[in-house]
Amino acid sequence: MKTLIVCASKYGSTLEIGRWMAERLGSDCLVKRAEDMPDPSSAELIILGSGIYRHAVLPVLQEYVTRSADALKGKKTVVFGVALDTRGVFINGKVHGGWDYILPLIERLPTPPIHAGLLGGEINPDKLDTKDREGLKRFYKMLYGQEEIPYKTRMNKKEVWDFAEKVLERLERPIPTKLPVEGR
Ligand SMILES: Cc1cc2nc3c(=O)[nH]c(=O)nc-3n(C[C@H](O)[C@H](O)[C@H](O)COP(=O)(O)O)c2cc1C
Repeated sequence: MKTLIVCASKYGSTLEIGRWMAERLGSDCLVKRAEDMPDPSSAELIILGSGIYRHAVLPVLQEYVTRSADALKGKKTVVFGVALDTRGVFINGKVHGGWDYILPLIERLPTPPIHAGLLGGEINPDKLDTKDREGLKRFYKMLYGQEEIPYKTRMNKKEVWDFAEKVLERLERPIPTKLPVEGR
């Protein structure tokens, strides 16, 4: 199946995960950066992935979805976010993290995706630009009382291949349609 994997990636982990996914999905897969705005019209399956920054997908992926809305209509799509907190927590009546990061993008798609989820990413302090390093230092200071940003990886090829296998399974089913929400 002709597949286009569009990745919004600042430090490369989403791109790497996109390549792992392509490996599992088979040969007819193209992995592209969202900045390049690749044309999705000839692809049968479009996979949209983004690193998560400050609780959201990168703006370039949102822009891609907005610009490609007509071409994405009726197509099979998949959404994945790459984050450190892939599970999220429920505090004060609200979900923080996890699905909360990617639901706004899912809701912007003209046709609901056949699969979606969060995959583990990484933070490598040596790669960060000044703004991100300073932002994270403040965050770690607030959380743990220390400024040091530790190297942390949750990248897991097996997790990515399991996700790709789920995509292959879902391809066998019809595209989901949005269910009307009562009272809206
Ligand atoms: C400035 C900054 C903010 C981040 N914000 C979040 C966040 O809100 N939630 C989260 O789970 N991970 C967060 N992360 C971790 C990233 O999602 C993770 O590093 C991911 O692998 C980045 O993907 P990329 O390398 O493709 O850009 C943040 C990382 C940085 C550097």
